[in-house]
Parts: sequence; C-alpha cells; structure tokens
Amino acid sequence: MRRPVVMGNWKLNGSKAMVKDLISGLDAEIKGVQGVDVAVAPPAVYLDLAERTIAEGQEKIILGAQDTDLTNSGAFTGDNSPEMYKEFGVTHVIIGHSERRDYHSESDQYVAKKFAFLKENGLVPVLCIGETEAQNEAGETEAVCARQINAVIDLLGVEAFNGAIIAYEPIWAIGTGKAATADDAQRIHASIRGLIAAKDAAVAEQVIIQYGGSVKPENAATYFAQPDIDGALVGGASLDAKSFAAIVKAAAEAKA
Ligand code: PGA
Repeated sequence: MRRPVVMGNWKLNGSKAMVKDLISGLDAEIKGVQGVDVAVAPPAVYLDLAERTIAEGQEKIILGAQDTDLTNSGAFTGDNSPEMYKEFGVTHVIIGHSERRDYHSESDQYVAKKFAFLKENGLVPVLCIGETEAQNEAGETEAVCARQINAVIDLLGVEAFNGAIIAYEPIWAIGTGKAATADDAQRIHASIRGLIAAKDAAVAEQVIIQYGGSVKPENAATYFAQPDIDGALVGGASLDAKSFAAIVKAAAEAKA
C-alpha cells in the first residue's frame, strides 16, 4: 500500500509573514491526521524560516524545494544546490515543472540530469510531467509522458524511480481551474505505472504518482478515490492553510 503524498508548490509566492502563518495554520489544521505525508515547497529564500516554523509545530511537515542546479557549488549565479537545501532540512525537490520546461527551456534530458543529481545527493525528486492542451487534443498525452519518463530511465535505469515521486500535471490544467477528470487522470496514471511496470513491477508498485493541476478541496476526493493516484501536487490551493489541509484530509480519508 502506497502512502499518499500531498505537496504544496508555492511557486514564486510568499513573504516572511505568510511563511509563518501558512505553516503554523497548516500544522494546526492537520493535527492528528494520519496516513499521509504532507510537504510544502516554498521559495528557497524562505527555507530557513520554513524549517524553523515547522520545528515549532506538532506535525511532521516535510520541507521541499523548487528546482536544483546540477552542481553543489560554483559559478552559477542565481542557482541553489542539494547540499544547500539539506542544510535546511529539505528532503524533496520539485523538478521538471512545466513552468521551468517552458520559461527556462529545460529539455527532458536536462531534467533527467537534475533527477540524477538529486538522487546522488540523497534527495527525493518530484518529477513533473504532462502534456500541453494541443498534445492532449491530438491524443498524444501517453506518448508525451512516456518520453519524459523514458529520459530518466535512459540515463539512470528504471530503479531510479525507487523512492521517487512523479507528478502528472496536464499543463492545460495548471492554474486554470480546468482540472482533468478523475477518470482521465486515472487512465494516464495507470499508463505511467504500466510503462514502469513493463521494466520492473516492484519499482512500479512503490512509485508515488501524484496528480497536479487545479486540485481543490472540492475535487480532491475524486482523484484520491482512484487506485493509481497517490496524492497531489497543489499550487494555488496550497497557499491557504484551510484549503490545503482539506486536500490533505481528503487523501487521508480516501487512502485509509
Ligand atoms: P495549481 O498548480 O494547483 O495552481 O493548478 C499546480 C502546479 O503547478 O504544481
């Protein structure tokens, strides 16, 4: 039985006050909720404050980060590294988000290298994959996801997905309020797990596959009712403690 992971991707949002309020509010809201891993990924400048605020609370909130460089130090202006993240208690790092693939021209192969570097440094990659609206309409969703997953398998072998997380995020559903139906998401999740199972059934059985893209308290339970949806990567709704906690609770109930 896979333990669901619900992760908040804060993107470029936050302030000192928000970090404190959101994390302490979340801590209070999820008090005693069992059976689900809860993570937040604030911007890197807030990791220190986030780590301290989590430590003041009662719940074990996992600290995540957004993106990584391919080196631990050096002349790479503006980047952050796994070693730096680890100093702040970060264990999970989001890579390959469509906003990075798109605005920063990150290729499948480049993202696969980030995946490798995170594994090498003992961090959990949260590998985002997903298709554009045009690809969806052309019936290319499975092929696009397979290409993005295969870039990692080609570089590292399928075993690299042991202990890793995949977030299936249809790009047309991100921040648009136009979420995929639970049935459509389940079909894609099953195809992703099937692709991995064709190479190694045990790896496929344990890999966490989150759904992401306009997940809200109102639709979260429909996703978590699906056998191959093991949690969610949540953008907008993770910026409100009550909304995010409601999604966490929906995961706990559905997967109990
Ligand atoms: P959203 O973002 O929940 O605001 O659609 C999800 C994501 O991009 O990870």
